[in-house]
Amino acid sequence: MSSIKWIFSYINKYKFRFYIALTAVLLSSFMAMINPYLSGRLVDEVIIQNKTDILFPILGVMVAVTVIKAIIRYTYQMAFEFVSQNVIFELRQKMYSKLQELDLDYYNKTRTGDIMARMTGDMDAVRHFVAWVIYNICENVTVFIFAIISMFFINVEFTLLMFALTPIVAYCAYRFAKQANPIFFGIREQFSKLNTVVQENISGNRVVKAFAKEDYEILKFEERNKAYMDANMELANVAQKYLSILNALSNMFTIVMILAGGIFVINDRLTMGELVMFNGLIWAINNPMNMVGWLINDAQRFIAAARKIKILVNEETKIKNPEEGIKPKKLKGEIEFRNVNFEYGYEPVLKNINFKVKSGQRVAIFGQTGAGKSTIVNLIERFYDATSGEILIDGIDIRKYNLQGLRKNISISMQDVFLFSNTIEENISYGVSEIDNNKINWAAEMADANNFIQNLSDSYETVVGERGVGLSGGQKQRITLARSIIKEPSILILDDTTSALDVETEAMIQKNLNTIYKDKTCFIIAHRISSIKDSDLILVLDDGRIVESGTHKELLDNKGHYYGVYKAQYGDYLDEEDNEDCKEVG
Ligand SMILES: Nc1ncnc2c1ncn2[C@@H]1O[C@H](COP(=O)(O)OP(=O)(O)OP(=O)(O)O)[C@@H](O)[C@H]1O
Ligand SMILES: [Mg+2]
Repeated sequence: MSSIKWIFSYINKYKFRFYIALTAVLLSSFMAMINPYLSGRLVDEVIIQNKTDILFPILGVMVAVTVIKAIIRYTYQMAFEFVSQNVIFELRQKMYSKLQELDLDYYNKTRTGDIMARMTGDMDAVRHFVAWVIYNICENVTVFIFAIISMFFINVEFTLLMFALTPIVAYCAYRFAKQANPIFFGIREQFSKLNTVVQENISGNRVVKAFAKEDYEILKFEERNKAYMDANMELANVAQKYLSILNALSNMFTIVMILAGGIFVINDRLTMGELVMFNGLIWAINNPMNMVGWLINDAQRFIAAARKIKILVNEETKIKNPEEGIKPKKLKGEIEFRNVNFEYGYEPVLKNINFKVKSGQRVAIFGQTGAGKSTIVNLIERFYDATSGEILIDGIDIRKYNLQGLRKNISISMQDVFLFSNTIEENISYGVSEIDNNKINWAAEMADANNFIQNLSDSYETVVGERGVGLSGGQKQRITLARSIIKEPSILILDDTTSALDVETEAMIQKNLNTIYKDKTCFIIAHRISSIKDSDLILVLDDGRIVESGTHKELLDNKGHYYGVYKAQYGDYLDEEDNEDCKEVG
């Protein structure tokens, strides 16, 4: 029931049209009683009593009723379609907005295939319910009730006799609904899983090919496909059983009517015309009985789909955007971590992190893979919130800023490069509100990407990303770097952004950044000492803790972890130089 209430909260916006359409259904059902009644009168009065003068008026009314009913039916079907399309449009928008709002934690836990299933199959089940199932239920229920009332008016005894079968129908419908409900959930679940396999296979097709795992993938798909088929077959088994019983019962009505009707007519308890009326109304009893199974089927499908969509739409984000959050115009870029601890699950990943960065400083985060470097910058962006402790920007806890306002001031060039399937121009200018060619060129030049972009067939208009031309890892990194630079943020974060570049290119980019980012706070994560040695502050991270910090020189003098890595990277060179002067390295 809650699913129905929920969908009505969306229908409410179109309630005028919706209720008019429902009234039209009522009217049309009522009109459906007229022709059987007139047929009866035709038999009794025109044929038996020979009142031929009323033949044409009756026929005229019958034709008029048929035409008007057809027009009304067309109108309400269109109205329901209109409402359903609008409801589904709104729901899709809402779901998409929710997907934008949800945090990384949600995406880590949720399969893409599930989300795609919500957006496609489940949405369609809801649309079908609003466009078709609702009015069919109303139509069938009202026609059924009107037919019973009409029959009672004609002959009470005969009607009661005919309805001896109804409790069995009601019982069958109830049993069917009960048994089909869990099966529908199973089907939706299997559909999600099937979607996930396809989606992962498509995005990971290179890995599949590289490892020659096509057969394995086909087998995996077959398993899921089979599970989906089985779930559908299970439903078909249950459905066919009950649908056949319901169908047989509805046919039984016709037999009972002909048999009992004949006896009633012979005994003069029913006129011939009244039997014709009953005969004309029998479809109004048969049809709903035949339909009840199908409608239960569709309604259950709707309930299963609606529940899944509702869960997604009502999903709570862990990252809360404060209602009256501070909207910074331009941040200075002072950052402080105060006793910050963080865990993704139960394992602590960052342990008691403390550091302070002044505006315009360049900070390097250095450490082994898995040490927690990306996690630190994820916290600055509020991709996740610290489990305990505080992160302050310009002296204010970052949780007090409006989320978008905060992120507008930060630019991150992420470790796992992602480009949209769009032109290079649009990819670079993604974070700024307008496309300015001069600025795009400038950003590309700063990221040392201008040259290779101009050599591409369509220069900045070249489509890259999923369906676009292939780019090398370093080229992609430079485009994402340009995308970060063009935003001119207060805080720039480069997470392993130059890892795929040769040392010379990297040095050139570093030089460019030195000139343009004098007043901006910069975080650089890199594994090469050459990338970070000029930083104002180097944080050496080991297993989630800052084990050392200082400038390159201070850290070398310290002869700790950093020095060890330095020696490993420049060992030969240092031996030649007799460990004397390290400043020239890089
Ligand atoms: N989304 C996540 N869910 C759970 N654990 C995670 C998640 N992301 C990272 N971790 C774990 O947190 C730890 C730190 O990861 P992080 O990505 O910060 O490392 P890193 O220092 O950036 O490493 P790398 O140099 O390889 O990029 C790792 O042990 C990793 O397994
Ligand atoms: Mg990382």
